[in-house]
Amino acid sequence: MADFILAIDQGTTGSTVALVDSQGQLCASVNVEFPQIFPKPGWVEHEPEAIWSSVQKALSRLLRKKLCKPSDIAAIGITNQRETSVVWDRRSGEVLHNAIVWQCRRTADFCETLRAKGHEDLVRERSGLVLDPYFSASKFRWLLREVPAAKRALKAGALAAGTVDSFLLWRLTSGEQHATDVSNAARTSLMNLKNLRWDPELLRLFEVPEGILPEIRPSSGVLGHTRGVRGLPDGIPIAGIAGDQQAALFGQACFSAGDAKCTYGTGSFIVMNTGSERILSKSGLLTTIGWQLDKQDPVYALEGGAFVCGAAVQWLRDGLKLIKRAPDIEALAASVPDHGGVEFVPALTGLGAPHWAPDARGLITGITRGSDRGHIARATLDAMALQNVDILRCMEADLGKRMRPLRVDGGAAANDLLMQIQADYLGRKLVRPRITETTVAGASYLAGIGVGLWSNTAQIKRIWQPEREFSVDISAAKRRQRMQSWQAAVDQTLVKAI
Ligand code: G3P
Repeated sequence: MADFILAIDQGTTGSTVALVDSQGQLCASVNVEFPQIFPKPGWVEHEPEAIWSSVQKALSRLLRKKLCKPSDIAAIGITNQRETSVVWDRRSGEVLHNAIVWQCRRTADFCETLRAKGHEDLVRERSGLVLDPYFSASKFRWLLREVPAAKRALKAGALAAGTVDSFLLWRLTSGEQHATDVSNAARTSLMNLKNLRWDPELLRLFEVPEGILPEIRPSSGVLGHTRGVRGLPDGIPIAGIAGDQQAALFGQACFSAGDAKCTYGTGSFIVMNTGSERILSKSGLLTTIGWQLDKQDPVYALEGGAFVCGAAVQWLRDGLKLIKRAPDIEALAASVPDHGGVEFVPALTGLGAPHWAPDARGLITGITRGSDRGHIARATLDAMALQNVDILRCMEADLGKRMRPLRVDGGAAANDLLMQIQADYLGRKLVRPRITETTVAGASYLAGIGVGLWSNTAQIKRIWQPEREFSVDISAAKRRQRMQSWQAAVDQTLVKAI
C-alpha cells in the first residue's frame, strides 16, 4: 500500500531526502552537500544544477536502501531554503544564472534607495517584511537587469523565476508546474499578506513582471505529479510545500496561536504561530505566513532570524581551522568555565533581525593573553544563543506578554551545552522534541495531509513527543551582566556598519 511520504529538504548547504512512514516516523534520510560560491565579499550564490543534482543523488541513495518500493510513496513534500532566487528558461528548462542566495547582500544599495525614497512603510504593510536584500524581490530585479540571457528570455516571454521550491517543483514535474506555496511567496516581498496574491504595487516597485512568477498555492494539497524523475514512477503527487522555517513550525506541532519554535541551522530562526492575526512588529521582526492548508484560511506568524548560527561553527572549522568537525565545538566550549570576556558577533553576512544591518561585519573582541581556543568556541555558542535572546525579547515586546516554552530543533539543538546556555540567557524554559528533524517532518506532514494520509493537525499533534526540557539555571543578575557585555559588542558592530 502506498503510505510512505518522501520529503525533500533543500537547505543552504545541502539537500536531504527522507522517508517518513504513515505513523509520522522518520525511516531514513540522506544528505548531500553542494558547493557555496562567494564571487565577491558579501555575495553568495548556488548553482541551481548542483542543487538539483544533490537532490537526485540523495534520492537515489535513499532508494538504494530499499526501505520501500518507489510505488509505495504516496506523496512528496518539499521544504527549502527560502528567499534564494532562481531564473530559468521555460522552453528549455535551462537555468540562466547562479541562484542568488538569501544571505547575499548585493542588492543592499537598491534597498537603501527604496528606503530613502520613503517606500519602507508600503513594503512592510503589504508584505510584512522589512526592506532588506535578504528577500527575493530585489534579487529578481538584479537578475532581470544584469543577466543578458534572462533579458532575452523575458523578451521572448519564456522567462521563469522563483524560489527554490518552485524550481524543484518545475524539475520534478518536467516543467508541467510553475507554482509556489504561500509561505515561500511570503518571503519574496512581492506577495500581499492579506489576499495572498502578487501585489501590483510591490511588483512595480521592484520592477518584477508578474508573468515570470509562479502561481501561489496553499502549502498542502496536490500541486503536481512526478514526471521523468530518475528512480521514481510518474504520477506521484507533490502534495506539500513550505519554506524550511515554516515547515519546522508545522513539524514542531506549533498549531495554536502563541506556540513558537527555534531552529538552529545555517542561521537560527524563531517563528511563532499568531493564528489568524497579522501582528505588525514594532521591534524589527517580520510578519509572515506559517502555512495554509487546502481550502482553509492561512495561519500567520511572527518571525525573527539571525543569519549566522551553524555557519559560525562552520567558519571556526573551515575558516579558522579551530575544530575538525562541527560537533567538536561542544567539548571545546566546555573546556572553559565561561566566555572569559571574549565576544564574537557573527555578522558574517550582515545582521538580520532585529538590527537589519546588511553591511555589518563580524567582530571578535575582549581578547587577552589568557584567551584560548576554548574561549572563542564558548563565545561562539554564547553568540548563537544571545542573538536569539535579542529576538525573543522583541517578540515578547510585540506581544506584550511572556512567551510559552520555546520548542527547539535543527542540527545544533543536539548540543546540550548550547541548549542550557540558551535557557539560561533567555530566562525561559526550552523543550526539545524526540524528532529534531522537524523541517522534513513538517514537509512530510503537509504532503500527507495533502493526500489524505492524515486528516488533520490533531493527528499530527499526537506524533509530536518531547524528549528533554532545559530549565533556567542562572540568576537574573548574572544574566543581566552577560547581556550587557554582548550588547556592547553588538553596538560596536553596528557602529562599524555605518
Ligand atoms: O531564510 C533562510 C532560511 O530559510 C535558511 O534556512 O536552515 O538553511 O538555515 P537554513
